[in-house]
Amino acid sequence: MAEYEYETHEYDVVVVGAGGAGLRATLGMAEQGLKTACVTKVFPTRSHTVAAQGGIAASLSNMGPDNWQWHMYDTVKGSDWLGDTDAMEYLAREAPAAVYELEHYGVPFSRTDEGKIYQRPFGGHTTEFGEGPAVQRTCAAADRTGHAILHTLYGQSLKNNAEFYIEYFAIDLIMSDDGQCQGVVCWKLDDGTMHVFSAKMVVLATGGYGRAYFSATSAHTCTGDGGGMVARAGLPLQDMEFVQFHPTGIYGSGCLITEGARGEGGYLTNSEGERFMERYAPQYKDLAPRDYVSRSMTMEIREGRGVGAEGDHIHLNLSHLPAEALAERLPGISESAKIFAGVDVTKEPIPVLPTVHYNMGGIPTNYFGEVLNPTSRSPNRIVPGLMAVGEAGCASVHGANRLGSNSLIDLVVFGRAAAIRAGEVVDAKSPVPTPNQKSIDAAFDRFDGLRHADGATPTAELRLEMQKTMQADAAVFRTDKTLKEGVAKMAEISGKLDDIKVTDRSLVWNSDLMETLELTNLMPNALATINGAEARKESRGAHAMEDHTERDDKTWRKHTIAKVKGSKVTLSYRPVILDPLTKEDQGGIELKKIAPKARTF
Ligand code: FUM
Repeated sequence: MAEYEYETHEYDVVVVGAGGAGLRATLGMAEQGLKTACVTKVFPTRSHTVAAQGGIAASLSNMGPDNWQWHMYDTVKGSDWLGDTDAMEYLAREAPAAVYELEHYGVPFSRTDEGKIYQRPFGGHTTEFGEGPAVQRTCAAADRTGHAILHTLYGQSLKNNAEFYIEYFAIDLIMSDDGQCQGVVCWKLDDGTMHVFSAKMVVLATGGYGRAYFSATSAHTCTGDGGGMVARAGLPLQDMEFVQFHPTGIYGSGCLITEGARGEGGYLTNSEGERFMERYAPQYKDLAPRDYVSRSMTMEIREGRGVGAEGDHIHLNLSHLPAEALAERLPGISESAKIFAGVDVTKEPIPVLPTVHYNMGGIPTNYFGEVLNPTSRSPNRIVPGLMAVGEAGCASVHGANRLGSNSLIDLVVFGRAAAIRAGEVVDAKSPVPTPNQKSIDAAFDRFDGLRHADGATPTAELRLEMQKTMQADAAVFRTDKTLKEGVAKMAEISGKLDDIKVTDRSLVWNSDLMETLELTNLMPNALATINGAEARKESRGAHAMEDHTERDDKTWRKHTIAKVKGSKVTLSYRPVILDPLTKEDQGGIELKKIAPKARTF
């Protein structure tokens, strides 16, 4: 058994991760007087939410008529009828209050001439239950909305006496023998000390796992750490096959160009200079949802109408927009285009390509963020002491495809919901449970095994192999053949973790070891993704199968539940929640409005 000395810490709540969801949960917990710690592997304002550009969806009606029922309808249709109806209603209904709260906390939103929060159009957001024109629903702080939100929430959390443990890497969850989460074991990166955090509630807000792919808009820190810890605790992941490709990553670097660029009037063209989205989505054109636009771009490239020397990308045109509008509304992407593509957006189009951007799947939760460990008898069974919010979680509000700007609102609505729920279930007066020593020892054993790993496969080499496989075999379009091959390759690749080579054995700023721990987190996420995709014989949202081109609600309107142990993935399924929270006669959405139908734009 590995012997590590460690410091102990006791809290009512420990939040792991300090992005938008983690900070909103932290703030909400601290505001209620719960003793709250936020543990984060990066400085809070460097969390990936800082990169969120275009905005946050809420039906404020500042730029024209809108209401939460229209927002809910768009989210249901956007999800391709895989989202849970209660969670989608909660998101749309609570969104305006959550945004006004942000405004009052101090988020510097862009303003209309009357001083209201500025809102722009985004893909898939419409009026009149998808029958009317596009709506301006996405509240923006220029094209740096995530940056503005993150800084504000960090300041507010400090003001409310939340305690931050910065550059602490969470190794594993502490689980009791009877399945309750009791805390988390951490490694402090800058001095090599070890820490055991015991808590009555642990909230995983660790973000997505975009870095399981070769080209992603996600930061290099997006390594699915929550999903990895949950899988090792014997708990499942949900709907992992649904991976969002953002239509406009910069060709080559993968940096994000916000959908807000098309919201402000930008459009895509092929090598013939044609605005091809008019053919694929006659009503909403460039403002169709992301899965739709990414597939259309891919088809154009495949059919020989891509741009560039190799005909392998698409142009995003902004130069027809007034230079002042670009400077005021899209300053960030104008700079990114210059730096990463050498393009002056006032004169030239930006070369773009669909790029991995978001994971619809994650740790299954209810709409209060409580983690679920479903059984066939009890599909909504709760794991005591554990919550997951933000991209790490799967409430499931995005189903098979997320609408742009529904991510930031997901972070704050469900971060806030988790705090509300914790206020009800966490007793600040009760003692913090004594953490299970066996579980702590197992975490240190795993850590020590990796620290001294002396195999033949360097971490960077194995990570690249995984990323290339995921990129090639679980792409925008998928076939039975590529997925079958991908499943076999990923099993082999993950088996090589037993042969991993770590060269640095030290404990202080050991990035070799940290990246190895991250790779052990990415791997179960990637395995669940490709296995879930291979099993799902239909096309739905971001899961576009060339051998099964139709959505099959009869067989497949259900959530995939994946348990990952080593390289082995066991799949089962959980019903989609079909009932909304508010009945029709009490102001809720008319049920026939959200009944499944063909998804056209
Ligand atoms: O395009 C964007 O600004 C990204 C927004 C989102 O993913 O919600």
